[in-house]
Amino acid sequence: VKKSSVKFVDGDEGLLDQLRGLWEALNRHHLELSTNFKQHYQNMTFEVRKAGLLKKANGGEMHVTIAQDQATGQAVGYLVSSVNAEKTGEIESVYVDPTYRRRGVGAQLMQYALAWMDQKGALEKVVEVCVGNEAAWGFYGRFGFLPRKTLLKQVKNP
Ligand SMILES: CC(C)(COP(=O)(O)OP(=O)(O)OC[C@H]1O[C@@H](n2cnc3c(N)ncnc32)[C@H](O)[C@@H]1OP(=O)(O)O)[C@@H](O)C(=O)NCCC(=O)NCCS
Repeated sequence: VKKSSVKFVDGDEGLLDQLRGLWEALNRHHLELSTNFKQHYQNMTFEVRKAGLLKKANGGEMHVTIAQDQATGQAVGYLVSSVNAEKTGEIESVYVDPTYRRRGVGAQLMQYALAWMDQKGALEKVVEVCVGNEAAWGFYGRFGFLPRKTLLKQVKNP
Protein backbone atom coordinates (compact mmCIF):
# COMPACT_ATOMS: atom_id res chain seq x y z
CA VAL A 1 0.00 0.00 0.00
CA LYS A 2 1.45 3.34 -1.03
CA LYS A 3 1.53 5.68 1.91
CA SER A 4 0.07 9.08 1.15
CA SER A 5 2.41 12.00 1.58
CA VAL A 6 2.30 14.60 4.28
CA LYS A 7 2.42 18.37 3.96
CA PHE A 8 3.28 20.90 6.64
CA VAL A 9 1.35 24.02 7.59
CA ASP A 10 3.04 26.69 9.72
CA GLY A 11 1.48 29.31 11.93
CA ASP A 12 1.08 30.68 15.43
CA GLU A 13 -1.29 30.12 18.37
CA GLY A 14 -4.21 30.75 15.98
CA LEU A 15 -3.79 27.14 14.79
CA LEU A 16 -4.17 25.60 18.26
CA ASP A 17 -7.87 24.71 17.87
CA GLN A 18 -6.99 22.39 14.98
CA LEU A 19 -4.85 20.27 17.33
CA ARG A 20 -7.61 19.22 19.72
CA GLY A 21 -8.02 15.60 18.53
CA LEU A 22 -4.31 14.86 18.32
CA TRP A 23 -3.63 16.59 21.63
CA GLU A 24 -6.33 14.44 23.27
CA ALA A 25 -4.58 11.34 21.91
CA LEU A 26 -1.28 12.59 23.38
CA ASN A 27 -2.97 13.18 26.73
CA ARG A 28 -4.35 9.60 26.70
CA HIS A 29 -0.84 8.37 25.85
CA HIS A 30 0.56 10.22 28.88
CA LEU A 31 -2.29 8.92 31.07
CA GLU A 32 -1.36 5.35 30.14
CA LEU A 33 2.37 5.88 30.71
CA SER A 34 2.19 7.73 34.01
CA THR A 35 2.21 5.82 37.27
CA ASN A 36 2.09 8.58 39.89
CA PHE A 37 0.26 11.34 38.02
CA LYS A 38 -2.60 9.64 36.19
CA GLN A 39 -5.00 12.02 37.98
CA HIS A 40 -3.28 14.98 36.34
CA TYR A 41 -3.96 13.63 32.85
CA GLN A 42 -7.46 12.48 33.79
CA ASN A 43 -8.33 16.03 34.86
CA MET A 44 -6.51 17.80 32.03
CA THR A 45 -8.67 19.17 29.23
CA PHE A 46 -7.75 20.71 25.90
CA GLU A 47 -9.23 24.02 27.09
CA VAL A 48 -6.96 24.13 30.16
CA ARG A 49 -3.87 23.18 28.16
CA LYS A 50 -4.73 25.69 25.43
CA ALA A 51 -5.18 28.46 28.02
CA GLY A 52 -1.74 27.61 29.47
CA LEU A 53 -0.16 27.81 26.02
CA LEU A 54 -1.90 31.10 25.21
CA LYS A 55 -0.62 32.58 28.47
CA LYS A 56 2.92 31.62 27.43
CA ALA A 57 2.40 33.04 23.95
CA ASN A 58 1.38 36.31 25.57
CA GLY A 59 4.76 36.85 27.25
CA GLY A 60 6.73 35.41 24.35
CA GLU A 61 6.18 33.88 20.96
CA MET A 62 4.63 30.66 19.76
CA HIS A 63 5.04 28.55 16.67
CA VAL A 64 2.74 25.76 15.52
CA THR A 65 3.33 23.32 12.68
CA ILE A 66 0.63 20.89 11.60
CA ALA A 67 1.39 17.82 9.48
CA GLN A 68 -1.53 17.07 7.17
CA ASP A 69 -2.25 14.05 5.00
CA GLN A 70 -1.99 15.43 1.44
CA ALA A 71 -4.89 13.32 0.20
CA THR A 72 -7.43 13.94 2.95
CA GLY A 73 -6.22 17.19 4.53
CA GLN A 74 -6.54 15.47 7.90
CA ALA A 75 -4.15 16.60 10.64
CA VAL A 76 -1.85 13.65 11.43
CA GLY A 77 0.77 15.34 13.58
CA TYR A 78 1.79 18.63 15.14
CA LEU A 79 4.45 20.43 17.10
CA VAL A 80 3.96 23.49 19.32
CA SER A 81 7.04 25.45 20.36
CA SER A 82 7.70 28.70 22.16
CA VAL A 83 10.43 31.23 22.84
CA ASN A 84 9.92 33.18 26.07
CA ALA A 85 11.13 36.62 27.20
CA GLU A 86 14.38 35.06 28.53
CA LYS A 87 14.99 33.60 25.04
CA THR A 88 14.52 30.02 26.16
CA GLY A 89 13.09 27.92 23.36
CA GLU A 90 10.80 25.09 24.42
CA ILE A 91 9.24 22.16 22.60
CA GLU A 92 5.80 22.40 24.22
CA SER A 93 4.01 19.50 22.63
CA VAL A 94 4.64 17.08 19.79
CA TYR A 95 2.57 14.17 18.53
CA VAL A 96 2.38 12.07 15.39
CA ASP A 97 -0.54 9.72 14.71
CA PRO A 98 0.66 6.09 15.15
CA THR A 99 -0.08 5.19 11.50
CA TYR A 100 2.23 7.99 10.31
CA ARG A 101 5.16 7.29 12.64
CA ARG A 102 8.71 6.25 11.71
CA ARG A 103 8.71 7.98 8.36
CA GLY A 104 10.35 11.25 9.31
CA VAL A 105 7.29 13.37 10.14
CA GLY A 106 8.40 13.97 13.76
CA ALA A 107 11.95 14.80 12.66
CA GLN A 108 10.65 17.28 10.07
CA LEU A 109 8.45 18.94 12.73
CA MET A 110 11.50 19.22 15.03
CA GLN A 111 13.63 20.73 12.27
CA TYR A 112 11.04 23.43 11.58
CA ALA A 113 10.71 24.23 15.30
CA LEU A 114 14.46 24.37 15.98
CA ALA A 115 15.06 26.60 12.94
CA TRP A 116 12.26 28.92 14.10
CA MET A 117 13.80 29.11 17.59
CA ASP A 118 17.19 30.01 16.10
CA GLN A 119 15.51 32.68 13.99
CA LYS A 120 13.96 34.09 17.21
CA GLY A 121 17.38 34.19 18.90
CA ALA A 122 16.83 31.35 21.37
CA LEU A 123 19.80 31.05 23.75
CA GLU A 124 18.91 27.56 24.93
CA LYS A 125 16.37 24.93 24.01
CA VAL A 126 14.50 22.58 26.32
CA VAL A 127 11.75 19.99 26.33
CA GLU A 128 9.94 18.50 29.33
CA VAL A 129 9.38 14.76 29.04
CA CYS A 130 6.95 13.02 31.38
CA VAL A 131 8.30 10.23 33.58
CA GLY A 132 7.10 7.03 31.91
CA ASN A 133 7.77 8.41 28.43
CA GLU A 134 11.49 7.60 28.35
CA ALA A 135 10.85 6.10 24.88
CA ALA A 136 10.84 9.68 23.60
CA TRP A 137 14.42 10.30 24.77
CA GLY A 138 15.86 8.62 21.67
CA PHE A 139 13.82 10.88 19.42
CA TYR A 140 15.01 14.06 21.17
CA GLY A 141 18.56 12.70 21.49
CA ARG A 142 18.89 12.85 17.72
CA PHE A 143 18.58 16.62 18.02
CA GLY A 144 21.08 16.94 20.86
CA PHE A 145 18.60 17.03 23.76
CA LEU A 146 19.91 15.08 26.76
CA PRO A 147 18.41 14.55 30.24
CA ARG A 148 19.49 17.42 32.51
CA LYS A 149 17.48 17.08 35.76
CA THR A 150 14.36 15.46 37.17
CA LEU A 151 11.42 17.41 38.59
CA LEU A 152 9.87 15.80 41.69
CA LYS A 153 6.35 17.03 42.33
CA GLN A 154 4.14 16.46 45.36
CA VAL A 155 1.03 14.50 44.46
CA LYS A 156 -2.27 16.09 45.54
CA ASN A 157 -3.15 13.57 48.28
CA PRO A 158 0.06 11.86 49.37
C1 LIG B 1 7.97 10.89 19.29
C2 LIG B 1 7.20 10.98 17.98
C3 LIG B 1 6.64 12.40 17.80
C4 LIG B 1 8.15 10.68 16.83
O1 LIG B 1 7.45 10.86 15.60
P1 LIG B 1 7.88 10.08 14.26
O2 LIG B 1 7.21 10.77 13.13
O3 LIG B 1 7.67 8.63 14.41
O4 LIG B 1 9.45 10.38 14.27
P2 LIG B 1 10.47 10.12 13.05
O5 LIG B 1 9.93 9.12 12.10
O6 LIG B 1 10.84 11.44 12.49
O7 LIG B 1 11.71 9.52 13.84
C5 LIG B 1 12.91 10.20 13.93
C6 LIG B 1 13.87 9.41 14.78
O8 LIG B 1 13.47 9.46 16.13
C7 LIG B 1 13.78 8.21 16.74
N1 LIG B 1 12.54 7.58 17.19
C8 LIG B 1 11.27 7.88 16.81
N2 LIG B 1 10.39 7.13 17.46
C9 LIG B 1 11.11 6.30 18.25
C10 LIG B 1 10.77 5.28 19.16
N3 LIG B 1 9.50 4.92 19.40
N4 LIG B 1 11.77 4.63 19.81
C11 LIG B 1 13.05 4.97 19.57
N5 LIG B 1 13.44 5.93 18.72
C12 LIG B 1 12.48 6.60 18.07
C13 LIG B 1 14.47 7.36 15.72
O9 LIG B 1 15.84 7.57 15.84
C14 LIG B 1 13.92 7.92 14.45
O10 LIG B 1 14.74 7.77 13.37
P3 LIG B 1 14.67 6.38 12.49
O11 LIG B 1 13.22 6.09 12.20
O12 LIG B 1 15.48 6.72 11.27
O13 LIG B 1 15.30 5.35 13.34
C15 LIG B 1 6.05 9.94 17.93
O14 LIG B 1 6.58 8.67 18.19
C16 LIG B 1 4.93 10.23 18.92
O15 LIG B 1 4.01 10.99 18.63
N6 LIG B 1 4.99 9.59 20.11
C17 LIG B 1 3.94 9.72 21.09
C18 LIG B 1 3.88 11.11 21.66
C19 LIG B 1 5.10 11.51 22.42
O16 LIG B 1 5.69 10.72 23.12
N7 LIG B 1 5.45 12.79 22.26
C20 LIG B 1 6.53 13.37 23.00
C21 LIG B 1 5.99 13.98 24.24
S1 LIG B 1 7.30 14.68 25.23
